Amino acid sequence: MLDGIMIRTFEQKEVEMLAEYGSIPIINGLTDLCHPCQVMADLLTIREHKGKLEGLTMCYIGDGNNMANSLIVGGLKCGMEVSVACPAGYDPDPQVLAFAASQPDFKFSLVRTPQEAAAGADVVFTDVWASMGQEEERAVRAAAFAGYQVNDRLMTLTNPGCMVQHCLPAHRGEEITAEVFEAHAQEIFDEAENRLHAQKAVLCLLMGGDAR
Ligand code: NVA
Repeated sequence: MLDGIMIRTFEQKEVEMLAEYGSIPIINGLTDLCHPCQVMADLLTIREHKGKLEGLTMCYIGDGNNMANSLIVGGLKCGMEVSVACPAGYDPDPQVLAFAASQPDFKFSLVRTPQEAAAGADVVFTDVWASMGQEEERAVRAAAFAGYQVNDRLMTLTNPGCMVQHCLPAHRGEEITAEVFEAHAQEIFDEAENRLHAQKAVLCLLMGGDAR
């Protein structure tokens, strides 16, 4: 009775099992492993603001979580250079790192300091330090990520006109300062709006029939 299912859950395996046993399109709305629909909206926003993706440098600061994983895959697939700064113990998923290493034209770096990752960036991403389901780890994570904040000092290392993106909700004063958030609010809210347009494209592609 359905033409497709978008599933937002924790375990990636649940999405893959639905796809394996189902006969209709299954769309990953978010798992612990990845957040592909969000990243399509993010890439659309960068292209709107910068006029291109290929050749730009994307940097991600913080937890090697679902956002980091999907940004690495999405950015590299679109010809961007991707640099990620995570504290030890919070790296992106090994499958994602293997994908990055397998790209013919290697344009990926995983570093330990936000300064190294932000140097020469055209767009800076960050995300909450404790994702959904990790609320109890909040204090431990706040200690691990101290120093991984996107703030004015870090932004001075980036390229002129560098964008800031955040999948929201943001915790001002934690992963991003209020000053940086407000200075880039237009780009961040364009990103939020683009969830609608990017997701329409996904539906059109998977279920649009002749409308494609
Ligand atoms: N990493 C975040 C993304 C939220 C859009 C989470 O999973 O909670």
